[in-house]
Amino acid sequence: MFDKNVYIERREGLKSLLKSGVVILPGNQESPRNYRGNNYHFEQDASFLYYFGMNVPNLIGVIDVDNNKEYIFGTDFTLDDIVWMGEQKLLKSFAEDVGINNFVEMTEFSQFANSLLEEKRELLFLPQYRSETTMQLSKYFKIDPFNFNNFASEKLILSVVEQRNTKSALEISEIEKAVNITREMHLKAMEVVKPGMKEYEVVAALEEVAARHNASTSFHTIFTRNGQILHNHYHGNTLQEGDLVVLDAGARIENGYCGDMTTSFPVSGKFTDVQKDIYSLLIEMFEKAEELIKPGITYKEVHLEVCKVLTEGMKKRGLMKGDTEEAVKAGAHALFFPHGLGHMLGLDVHDMEALGENYVGYEDFPREMQFGLKSLRLARKLRPGYVFTVEPGIYFIPELVRRWKEANKFTEYLNYEEIEKYLSFGGMRYEGDFLITETGARRLGDKMPKYPHEVEACINR
Ligand code: GLY
Ligand code: MN
Ligand code: MN
Repeated sequence: MFDKNVYIERREGLKSLLKSGVVILPGNQESPRNYRGNNYHFEQDASFLYYFGMNVPNLIGVIDVDNNKEYIFGTDFTLDDIVWMGEQKLLKSFAEDVGINNFVEMTEFSQFANSLLEEKRELLFLPQYRSETTMQLSKYFKIDPFNFNNFASEKLILSVVEQRNTKSALEISEIEKAVNITREMHLKAMEVVKPGMKEYEVVAALEEVAARHNASTSFHTIFTRNGQILHNHYHGNTLQEGDLVVLDAGARIENGYCGDMTTSFPVSGKFTDVQKDIYSLLIEMFEKAEELIKPGITYKEVHLEVCKVLTEGMKKRGLMKGDTEEAVKAGAHALFFPHGLGHMLGLDVHDMEALGENYVGYEDFPREMQFGLKSLRLARKLRPGYVFTVEPGIYFIPELVRRWKEANKFTEYLNYEEIEKYLSFGGMRYEGDFLITETGARRLGDKMPKYPHEVEACINR
């Protein structure tokens, strides 16, 4: 937890953006795995953590902008709880640590909600993503739970996005800690990987690194010899000589800040010629983004420039043809790169995705629905303080190639005969975390291997 002034300033900032209304901001509840009392590891809602800092389940934070009052509602520990859980700091004093002097027992919340309803106050909710919280709020505020998110406040969403999108120096240093643990996880995987190992053995080794730092993972680790499957969470394959693996993994440190990195490397320590060739193109794409990102450019422009590098590279290798600009405009390159170049990163690994991707990543132009571009989560103009990922990929997805070929899709840009020679190639992605500074951008964390020789030097040392 940070100093109380951090939370006080964030709430003051929110109040001045909102100007009126009552923010009702529930934290997360425990989430049972299979029965009450056997729960998933507790993870606090990121917006609650941002404004109230308390990593405790079953709380509701209230910011009454009209009356300049703030409350935490919760159920303080009983003697019974203390028998089972050991002595606990009282929630009342916890709330004081984040600058809130009004701690109120949750039993009072129903009456509090009723008075807000009777007074016809302007209620400000964020969209909800957990059914238990949705049910709870729906009951208190007499809202149809199945339509709860229609009652979310756009004004609140936009204000939270505005605040949370720009990271403070304090946040940047926390994210950088998460990025450096993430880096160690990747280096550990490269260190232990060997043909004959199971994917899950490598995953165990790299996740241990996070655990040793008292961190968890920021999302399910992707470690696979089938990198063409974008979000592949299966870890049961045996690694073979000649395999190229994709590792997409990140750490989430105790206060919630996340890292997110992808590396792609040969399990036997040496890229084959064709792997090295495609990997070099991947790094050209990454470096185009590194070159372009700075305040003022939109991330959509960066994404499209990276797509042009991909298209040029594919033309050089005989897999694409025709005019590069036209091919990218049409979306032909998305056969190889069907996802977006990156997303905001912070207290969520896809920061604030629960509030709506378009609010976070878009601003003054709409999201396009073309295959490829529709998966671009971040497109808006970049500003100092933004922290986001750069993660180009190159994939050969056999089913996608087969369907596009059958439909004669983009035959003016795609050389299917050449592409088919790569059907067993798999896929690769390279991902780093960046901060926009006043004048340019900086990759967060200590130096990561990027070029083929640097990657090879890290494997099985
Ligand atoms: N781990 C998913 C991503 O990189 O966005
Ligand atoms: Mn990732
Ligand atoms: Mn990512």
